[in-house]
Amino acid sequence: MSDNKKVILTGDRPTGRLHVGHYVGSLRRRVELQESGKWDEIFIMIADAQALTDNAKQPEKVRENIVEVALDYLACGLDPKKSTLFIQSQVPELTELSFYYMNLVTVPRLQRNPTVKAELQMRDFGNKGIPVGFFTYPISQAADITAFRATTVPVGEDQEPMLEQCREIVRTFNATYGETLVEPDIMLPDNAACLRLPGTDGKAKMSKSLGNCIYLAEEPEDIKKKIMSMFTDPGHLRVEDPGKTEGNPVFTYLEAFSKPEYFAEFCPDYKDIGEMKAHYERGGLGDVKVKKFLNSCLQAELEPIRKRRQEFQKDISYVYEVLKKGSEVAEKKAAETLSMVKQAMRIDYFNDSELMKAQALKYANPED
Ligand code: TRP
Repeated sequence: MSDNKKVILTGDRPTGRLHVGHYVGSLRRRVELQESGKWDEIFIMIADAQALTDNAKQPEKVRENIVEVALDYLACGLDPKKSTLFIQSQVPELTELSFYYMNLVTVPRLQRNPTVKAELQMRDFGNKGIPVGFFTYPISQAADITAFRATTVPVGEDQEPMLEQCREIVRTFNATYGETLVEPDIMLPDNAACLRLPGTDGKAKMSKSLGNCIYLAEEPEDIKKKIMSMFTDPGHLRVEDPGKTEGNPVFTYLEAFSKPEYFAEFCPDYKDIGEMKAHYERGGLGDVKVKKFLNSCLQAELEPIRKRRQEFQKDISYVYEVLKKGSEVAEKKAAETLSMVKQAMRIDYFNDSELMKAQALKYANPED
């Protein structure tokens, strides 16, 4: 059931500060979407309840990172006047929806979810087994999305199986109880380098535990250090040697961060990334020059973010106020959806006067 609104919902787990992988994969896009004026509602959720599904013993870590993530959001330009920023656990309707959706999903279907599979391999739950909450988080994510009647979910590629599972839940729900929920579309980053920015060591993904991240709020000298020690093409030993750009993390980062105006400003020898790549591939372009250029691009991109973050850091009570108000707005919308869901499932007993009448009638004339 669509009210024809264009609604965005997305979010992040608060398990650490956000890094440039989050930025190119999602945050930058969110701000563009916010500024495009083409969306009726935008909800950005700090997924603390989801973070607790595999951090149950570290609630402090999740708790502390809520404000860090909110600061990163505000610093990137998410504007509480245009986007609703809220905390998942403060919207209890999401939990209630999850419980009803659980009846529509089988255990083997969850076991087949590739993201759950991959994460199970990455995280070591030891011989104790998987927490049920973690195992079922795709269902809770379907609740997050459908509660806001989101039409579009901008996320990274790794979330694709979650969206597929969400769409299945919507279809099953609507087929079982009548048209109620909105089927969402995924919106992936349009630039391949942004889909999955590798770590500075060239490993597949930035991850805090691998120490291969550049954080959004990182100091300029630290950014520079990390870039100058980044992995490149191991076969490119001398400047004259032909180098590979494919799979070379420095070039992947340039694909994600360089803009023609940065070439004009910092590296006018080349018009764009294509020319720079061609030179590297033929030989004669050294890694240091490329890295210095990447550093200039990143510094240019991150400086305004860091400055804005510093301003917001001075007013943490404002940040809390934003999240509190946002959570109230979010709860109102989720409550509307929950009430539609209960009505569709016919578990809205006290709103259903027909039900009471019918049952009263059944006992009105016992002799008949
Ligand atoms: N799973 C997402 C992540 O790992 C966070 C998230 C929770 C989310 N619920 C969501 C993203 C709903 C999009 C839609 O960062």
